[in-house]
Amino acid sequence: MNRGEFLTILEEYGNVTSTRSIEHFALGTPKSLDGSWKDYLENSSLEEVIALITDDKIGASVPDSLKSLKFRLKALEYSRKCVRTPVELWNGWTGENREYGLDSKFKLITSTNGLIRKRIKAKKQHEIDRIVELISQIQMFFREKSEPIDSLVDIGAGVGHLSRMISLKNGLNVMAVEGNQQFTLAANSLDEQLVQKTAAKMRHFSSDLNFEKSPLRSTNFVTEELASKIDDFAENRAILVGLHCCGDFSSTILKVFQKSEKAKALVLLGCCYHKQFQCFHFLHPDGFNLETASLDSTSPPSCSVFPLSQKWMGFELSYILREIACHNNENLESRFQKTDISRFARAHLEKWIREISDNPEDWNLGLCSVKCEDEKTTFEDYIRRAMAKRGRYLIERVLEKIPSPTLSLYVSSLSRSLFDQCEVIRLLFAPSVESAILDDRCEFLRENGIESRIVPLFEPTVSPRNLAIIAYKK
Ligand SMILES: C[S@@+](CC[C@H](N)C(=O)[O-])C[C@H]1O[C@@H](n2cnc3c(N)ncnc32)[C@H](O)[C@@H]1O
Repeated sequence: MNRGEFLTILEEYGNVTSTRSIEHFALGTPKSLDGSWKDYLENSSLEEVIALITDDKIGASVPDSLKSLKFRLKALEYSRKCVRTPVELWNGWTGENREYGLDSKFKLITSTNGLIRKRIKAKKQHEIDRIVELISQIQMFFREKSEPIDSLVDIGAGVGHLSRMISLKNGLNVMAVEGNQQFTLAANSLDEQLVQKTAAKMRHFSSDLNFEKSPLRSTNFVTEELASKIDDFAENRAILVGLHCCGDFSSTILKVFQKSEKAKALVLLGCCYHKQFQCFHFLHPDGFNLETASLDSTSPPSCSVFPLSQKWMGFELSYILREIACHNNENLESRFQKTDISRFARAHLEKWIREISDNPEDWNLGLCSVKCEDEKTTFEDYIRRAMAKRGRYLIERVLEKIPSPTLSLYVSSLSRSLFDQCEVIRLLFAPSVESAILDDRCEFLRENGIESRIVPLFEPTVSPRNLAIIAYKK
């Protein structure tokens, strides 16, 4: 990824990317936007603005600067179009063309048996099917080098569906580590219920499933020290897998992989890039600022999610930008339709809070969530419920300030604002910010002599965090 171009774009469009949409609205967003963008947003429906992101053909009314921005961002993004066959998958992660020894289609492993599939949602089934194929390919790759893999460690294993299936399917010794004890207990119980019951039934059928062993499960908060446990567990070589490991948990896994001698391959999919658990250090949602982003590559980064690599050292992504990276731009129309309409009330309320208070802490109050119903919930109902616990000291002042005709409006009627249009414009940046985060992770591995590629492993409409880092040590 072209770091210089990415930084230039963020600097040029900091007014759009560094502010939450609600704040944009509260501050009178259109004023802070380029005049031609403002005209375009005011004169376009939400569907038309969404089409700017989703369609290849751009409407004639889209301002040139917005068109150009779309193409500049596109050039920075990793493709999210998912691999369609095992052959494409192999080519994607090895960089080599090959057809022999690979199936023509992905197998739907989890559909082979009702009991195994039980309690696994369609999204997870899709992810498991793809990962099991990928693990088989990695096993084949190392077998052909006469360096067979014997073990696999699933890090952040949740309730264990993936590790259970790999244990059944890939003939590896599987260790699963999870920080939440409830999940480990649930996983153990599912191992017993599903696998053993299924095993009894399946003995009568010829099956390529291995019921001999269940994964070895433990509850541990993973730190870099996991590397030595992996080296104790594996006989010779292990694959590490992390499926949807939030924020800096992914950073830890990358370091575990780098440190472990026996870990030879890694499959890592991140999510929730804004979250930092290791240091419980949540950054203030302040905007990107090149001046404050020191370009001195010796100063340690204050964020444990990004950057990790020398390539990106000296540049930090704010909390807000990392949060944008967690959005996907598939199914936008239906997502905006389904989103709770309370967002409009929240945006309007924030505008009024700013009228009565100069304190930024009041502007970002964590309000109670309120379910708003079409043509039923009024703005006043919303305010009373939303501020009932967290903004009680402000509530009477806000209610006094807002004219009564406005208070009696239905929340659904407040939607006639540019709020959603502005949010869509912010989402235009989402794939490039995610790409920068993944690029940094890959570069970190490459700088440590590890082969690393990014492959769109899942269908993004099924599993939106679909870009896998697939890495191996030569
Ligand atoms: C988004 S969930 C994914 C679970 C599972 N991999 C899946 O895809 O269904 C992330 C999991 O990582 C666990 N986790 C997060 N940080 C962790 C840490 N430092 N050590 C161990 N587990 C952690 C969480 O408890 C959670 O179960």
